Amino acid sequence: MLKASLGTDDFELIRKLLNQHAGLWFGADMRPVIERRLRDRIEALGLDNFTAYRRRLEEGDVIEVGEAAEVCTVNETYAFRGERQLRTFRDILLPRISGGSGREKGGIVVWSAGCATGEEAYTLGAIVLQSGLFDPSRVRIFGTDISRRCVAAARRGVYSSSSFRDQAGLAYEHFFRRQPDGSRVVVEELRAACHFRQANLLEGSAFGFINVVFCRNVLIHMDEASRRVVVQSFYERLAPGGYLVLGHSESLLKERTDFIPEEHPDDLVYRKPAVGELPSERGRGR
Ligand SMILES: C[S@@+](CC[C@H](N)C(=O)[O-])C[C@H]1O[C@@H](n2cnc3c(N)ncnc32)[C@H](O)[C@@H]1O
Repeated sequence: MLKASLGTDDFELIRKLLNQHAGLWFGADMRPVIERRLRDRIEALGLDNFTAYRRRLEEGDVIEVGEAAEVCTVNETYAFRGERQLRTFRDILLPRISGGSGREKGGIVVWSAGCATGEEAYTLGAIVLQSGLFDPSRVRIFGTDISRRCVAAARRGVYSSSSFRDQAGLAYEHFFRRQPDGSRVVVEELRAACHFRQANLLEGSAFGFINVVFCRNVLIHMDEASRRVVVQSFYERLAPGGYLVLGHSESLLKERTDFIPEEHPDDLVYRKPAVGELPSERGRGR
């Protein structure tokens, strides 16, 4: 087993490279954690110490930088996480986006950005389908993550009971069929609406206009400059009047953005102004 430890200089350089690659930011207190997470990589590559590993990253081994990001990211997630936010999505955002009753049912595009192993995307898909407000053939849920392994797991769509630790999922159980070994598999109807792709949030990834972006528990691991880049890219990809939903400990209130914060009984969401709603647009054409 590798005995070497991660010195301050190596840590500084490795965290800088991870920041440039994925926007991730690790404080000095994270050094022991990063040391633990990178140990297996160093052993797998047959290297003797962290300095040799750092050199390899510095020399431009982009695949290894990706591997380092893969092991250093936090991929914790579960289905129906954040009940209050999901209630806001179901009871307020979806009816608004659908435009109410009486019309032909339309479509919706939702993006789970930083979806980890996919539970969030399937959760959002189950809520949209169950709402009955949209034409199921026009429901698109995109899940993206920087981790290839997470995206592969999301595509498999098979989850152990720990992914269903939240009781809020009980009402949607039929979308996740129980298998003899106790695991649950996503049913075809839901699978057909959900699409997964490996993508780095710092780089562009286009799938047309989006109605709602969920990006929860991702920005909290990034530095301020990267957060700004990512939030701006959400703004550009959202349809006018579209929504951004962040995690509970993430907020845009101190940021300078054109998003309009909207306070609801259960959650704070951010809305992209509708056409003509931006202060700079008002009065145009008069
Ligand atoms: C804690 S998980 C959040 C999962 C889910 N959104 C939730 O709230 O349950 C954070 C995820 O963000 C991903 N991530 C971190 N940096 C990223 C980046 N630059 N591009 C895409 N995904 C990233 C990680 O790989 C990880 O799977």
